[in-house]
Amino acid sequence: MKAYSLPEGSLYRITQLDKQHQELIDIVQSLHGLSESNELPEIVRIFESFLNKLAIHFTDEERMMKDTAYPDAESHRAHHQDMLKDAQSTFNIVKDKGKLLERNAIDSIDKLIRHMLLSDGPFVTHLKNR
Ligand SMILES: [Fe+2]
Ligand SMILES: [Fe+2]
Repeated sequence: MKAYSLPEGSLYRITQLDKQHQELIDIVQSLHGLSESNELPEIVRIFESFLNKLAIHFTDEERMMKDTAYPDAESHRAHHQDMLKDAQSTFNIVKDKGKLLERNAIDSIDKLIRHMLLSDGPFVTHLKNR
């Protein structure tokens, strides 16, 4: 499958955050690779690490929004909450069905990349214009 890389506009040029973004993209892609397979224990293991890393990344981003008085921090934070809930409900479907549906895996990649472009992108701009 196509390897996704970070959208140019979402590059922080801050090693920690860019590394987290790349790692999140890599994880959802490996989950996609396991979709429709019966490798449930592996999927569960990777999915748990995805949820964990997603929460850590959001916390780090939100801390930086606070530190730099980002005016759109509240709506960005709300979007993070939605994404966490959404990822958790996809994980519940995995456990319920005993597999990861391919459409759910693709949806997770899409949502992650869309968030990087539409929500993280404007925050990157804010950081650059300080
Ligand atoms: Fe992000
Ligand atoms: Fe974000």
